[in-house]
Amino acid sequence: MCGIVGYIGKNQALPILLDGLKRLEYRGYDSSGVAVKTADGVFSVKAVGRIVELEKKINSPNPSLEGGQINLDSRLRGNDKGNLLKGVNAGANTGIAHTRWATHGAPTEANAHPQTDCQGKIWLAHNGIIENYQELKIRLIAKGHKFTSQTDTEVIAHLLEDLYDGDLSRALIKVLKILKGAYGLALFHSDEPNKLFAAKFGSPLVLGLADGEIIVASDVSAIIRYTKQVIYLKDGEIAEISGQDFKIFDADNKQVNKNIDQIEWDSEAAEKGGWPHFMLKEIFEQPKSIANSIRGRYVAEAGRAKLGGLESAAERIRGIKKIIIASCGTARLAGLVGKYMIEEYAGIPCEVDYAHEFRYRKAILDGETALIAVSQSGETADTLAAVREAKEKGCLTLGIVNVVGSSIARATEAGVYSHSGPEIAVASTKAFTSQVAILCLLTVMFGRQRQMSLATGQRIISELASLPDKIKQVLALNDELKRIAEKYYQFKNFAFLGRKYNHPVAFEGALKLKEISYIHAEGFAAGELKHGPIAMIDENFPSFYIAPVDSVYEKNYSNMQEIKARGGKIIAITTAGDEKIKEVADEVIYIPKTLEMLTPILTAVPSQLFAYHMAMLNGRDVDKPRNLAKSVTVE
Ligand code: F6R
Repeated sequence: MCGIVGYIGKNQALPILLDGLKRLEYRGYDSSGVAVKTADGVFSVKAVGRIVELEKKINSPNPSLEGGQINLDSRLRGNDKGNLLKGVNAGANTGIAHTRWATHGAPTEANAHPQTDCQGKIWLAHNGIIENYQELKIRLIAKGHKFTSQTDTEVIAHLLEDLYDGDLSRALIKVLKILKGAYGLALFHSDEPNKLFAAKFGSPLVLGLADGEIIVASDVSAIIRYTKQVIYLKDGEIAEISGQDFKIFDADNKQVNKNIDQIEWDSEAAEKGGWPHFMLKEIFEQPKSIANSIRGRYVAEAGRAKLGGLESAAERIRGIKKIIIASCGTARLAGLVGKYMIEEYAGIPCEVDYAHEFRYRKAILDGETALIAVSQSGETADTLAAVREAKEKGCLTLGIVNVVGSSIARATEAGVYSHSGPEIAVASTKAFTSQVAILCLLTVMFGRQRQMSLATGQRIISELASLPDKIKQVLALNDELKRIAEKYYQFKNFAFLGRKYNHPVAFEGALKLKEISYIHAEGFAAGELKHGPIAMIDENFPSFYIAPVDSVYEKNYSNMQEIKARGGKIIAITTAGDEKIKEVADEVIYIPKTLEMLTPILTAVPSQLFAYHMAMLNGRDVDKPRNLAKSVTVE
């Protein structure tokens, strides 16, 4: 939520900041802003809406400049975009930028970041929430500070101003001790040349170390174009950066030595590469992302999973008596598929929790319980909080995380990276199927340590390895799904139904449809239908029914009859070769045959494509649906 970019180095800051913002836009996109240090003062522009609005404003002949910064109008006048950049960029090698997902205060220019102090000297971009901002604001107002926004962030600028004695890093150390809540911060003082600061507590922040320049960002997507060498800041750490040099201090102001990590993603992976949308690209990447998730992680002939990231916890894993999977949204639904797998094949009781509820229920936890946090971003605040809670109560904490070096990856004791590659579209697709694939590997590992036979282990591994090809076959049905969407895109309500392994996929299909098309869709475990929801079914309320030929097929078939009898239309997903379903379903999509436990990986794909086409036909912004942000770093 919210994206921060900071730049200091040998190049002009503004183009790099804008490029970084575009790459971070998926984190929040209701307003944005930049502040760049120039030889004459600070140049800052803010705009409501997408980054393109900010660019338009920067490139407009007469941009409205705000705050205490100098008037650059003479340099900005004229339609030549180059003029503006040249004018602002001459010697403007330090700056910060921000893309916002509003928490405190509506998306307005005044509330957009960077925020500044009374004198327009301290400029900062913030991700997170300052929980004690109201009491701080009252105190600062009493001291004469003038606030211009409704944000919690602005108190940081005024507090810094209050405690500033000619050295921003000294003031920052004092201020961070006063703040309660979460922050990722990038900031500078206009009077301190060649210096940029960053600080982190609870919200992610990464330093990218390029040749003669350093980029600070909320995640690596803003950095990989320039360098693959990064440093992940830890909670409480402060970075003082000047061009190619940097020093990092801990909360006690002691300088710390940090490891430089290497990002594995390549920059093309985070770009659209000819696809109209990231979401479509990511759906079509699934044969590759699943292959990457499982590569080198099994021994086929031994029917075993080989998960290096769990070796450090091998002893404790052997002794686990209960598993709790804690996660949110799509990641939780992957966890629900995992529950069915783990209980059926590994014989370990498994609960699935909304990470945001986990802390509030009094779960029975002990040293023989493992909490598995599933998260694409590795930054979801609720999931991170669940990990901390479980750790405190003595549980073993494990992670299934996509983003390497992310907070959840670091907070868990051991874990498995899902290796699905960068997921930029707000709606999660390839991360889901990879999470399910990893949960399958975990099931094989837990199972083979307990009750699972060699033959079963071998069968699961061999089927898992065949999935990339089978996903390709499902993707070949894209045109068919588009045709179905063309028939149904004007309907206002949908039920998504499935049982057992595919009941989580029904929920996931409904979530995909509602979040990107804004069409009302509800997921149901199909057995629930006649306990209430069937009352809604009529010719205007179609059902998307996930019913592969498996152990619950007959039950599903009966439910479809019940829907049909009430005039409900049915779009069904089933297994190749099933002709019977045509008697009840209006549309049928066939997936290749696989093990029942692995069907969710195949059935999820048509649900994703259906949602994509429905959203497109309704004219929605598929990659950046309204009100959402990719990484939910507030609770
Ligand atoms: C839906 C979606 C969200 C995320 C959820 C958890 O398409 O993307 O529901 O799955 O916010 O995010 P992560 O996996 O990053 O913890």
